[in-house]
Amino acid sequence: MATVINNTMLDAILADVRPLIGRGKVADYIPALACIPGNKLGIAISTVDGQHYSAGDAHERFSIQSISKVLSLIVAMNHYKEEEIWQRVGKDPSGQPFNSLLQLEMEQGIPRNPFINAGALVVCDMLQGRLSAPRQRMLEIVRKLSGKTDISYDAVVARSELDHSARNAAIAWLMKSFGNFHHDVATVLQNYFHYCSLKMSCSELARTFLFLADRGRAPHLTSPVITPLQTRQVNALMATSGMYQNAGEFAWRVGLPAKSGVGGGIVAIVPQEMAIAVWSPELDDAGNSLAGIAALEKLTRQLGYSVY
Ligand code: DON
Repeated sequence: MATVINNTMLDAILADVRPLIGRGKVADYIPALACIPGNKLGIAISTVDGQHYSAGDAHERFSIQSISKVLSLIVAMNHYKEEEIWQRVGKDPSGQPFNSLLQLEMEQGIPRNPFINAGALVVCDMLQGRLSAPRQRMLEIVRKLSGKTDISYDAVVARSELDHSARNAAIAWLMKSFGNFHHDVATVLQNYFHYCSLKMSCSELARTFLFLADRGRAPHLTSPVITPLQTRQVNALMATSGMYQNAGEFAWRVGLPAKSGVGGGIVAIVPQEMAIAVWSPELDDAGNSLAGIAALEKLTRQLGYSVY
């Protein structure tokens, strides 16, 4: 239970996993991320009963990258009917790298799930259709959920992604060729890159995603972010697809719904209990934070948490 957690225990977990730093690789396919020091390490927890814990670099902001894919899905859920979303994107794990084109060609331009790049791009295409200012709207939502009005996009990271966007552009154009992408590719890519470039700290991420541990309700907001059913659905998608081709390995080791980003962040949810965010920029072969996973594994073992 939440009462056994304290900052000292989190400090000890970080000390345990720190020797892993040096074994992974900071993402360099987005050049603006390549210069982030690999020795950053942070963890933060927000609990549904109002406690906040943190250790290490928990208050330093970093590029949340694919963690933003959860937020864009939430916004789409607020603006589209269930069937409108799920006829354009699947709910199954891909078992492939997050930026793969393989299945997309074989499966007629319908991405396997909203957390691979193809799926997130379809979701961003949907947002372009229903929001007058998708980038501004995302900032408003993140600021409201985190309670921090100065959270913003990192223009340098967004620009760096645009300069190296061949693969994401290919994904979007391939989906357009199948009729599953309706708006201007360049505009939607720009929105997607901006979402990925959001800069947040572990502490802010844990607060922001607490609604996924509390049946769709953020403690400081009067109206729910999503319904309890949608919350279950998002957590199920995170559990099956949030860690890409290593979703099974992650379920084995950590046992929680989670979403990673190539900035080295991971958000994990203990339903009805807490949201956890970790950050360590060095990644494993699947593009997930190597020491971050190890920290989550130690934490869940110590607390006896797992959804399985
Ligand atoms: O589009 C990309 O490749 C990046 N902006 C996001 C990829 C990512 O974070 C995958 N996560 N582990």
